[in-house]
Amino acid sequence: MWEKILVLVWVSSALAEQLCQPDAVEGYRVRLSIKRALGLQAYAWNDDEMFLFRATLAFAMRNHLSDQDFQVSNIIVCDETPRVTFWFVVTSPLNASVLVDKADVEQAVRKSRHRINSAFLLSDQTLEFMGIEPTLAVPVEPEIPPWLIAFGVVTGTVCTGLILVMVSALIQNTCKTKKKFDEDEEQNDDVWKTAESIPTYDGVYNMSFSDEERFTQM
Ligand SMILES: *[C@@H]1O[C@H](CO)[C@@H](O)[C@H](O)[C@H]1NC(C)=O
Repeated sequence: MWEKILVLVWVSSALAEQLCQPDAVEGYRVRLSIKRALGLQAYAWNDDEMFLFRATLAFAMRNHLSDQDFQVSNIIVCDETPRVTFWFVVTSPLNASVLVDKADVEQAVRKSRHRINSAFLLSDQTLEFMGIEPTLAVPVEPEIPPWLIAFGVVTGTVCTGLILVMVSALIQNTCKTKKKFDEDEEQNDDVWKTAESIPTYDGVYNMSFSDEERFTQM
């Protein structure tokens, strides 16, 4: 029984080795620069990290080929180097001895590139899938820096103050003009009143009559 299991494990690992090789036709090489990306906060690359990588890749494959249930075991890794580089291939969930097409792996990686990067706190430059162009996904909008917020607040306050001053000046001006206009109007009214109170002799003075008088005199 145990012998059988051992043989099975050996066969499957031998098969995996056969499937995943450097420069494999359906394989991709990955290069990570954790130190460069994270400096003092860099984490050590170990088996757990590699498990996370395989799980993330399985997720990316499921995300792309949603009709197939990819498992961590479908992501086969080989030729790992300490300054972290490795090769990987993806086997089909339907038949473990068949590799998934390279184009499908590429599309899956591109589609989930941001999620893969975030899982390892890395970027397109520090987590490289060699031969796969960096993501075409919409870049995440950068957070607004605090100095810009402070600048905005100050500018806003100054602008509001200026507008208030201008508006109040305008209102005062309008009031003054209106008052002056009213005063002028009152004065005009007075003029009219005096004009009315002056008796008009125009109506009394009759030109034709005076002319007649002049003619009669002649
Ligand atoms: C898996 O694929 C291999 C190679 O194409 C083939 O020989 C084998 O019969 C397939 N196995 C199943 C269960 O379909």
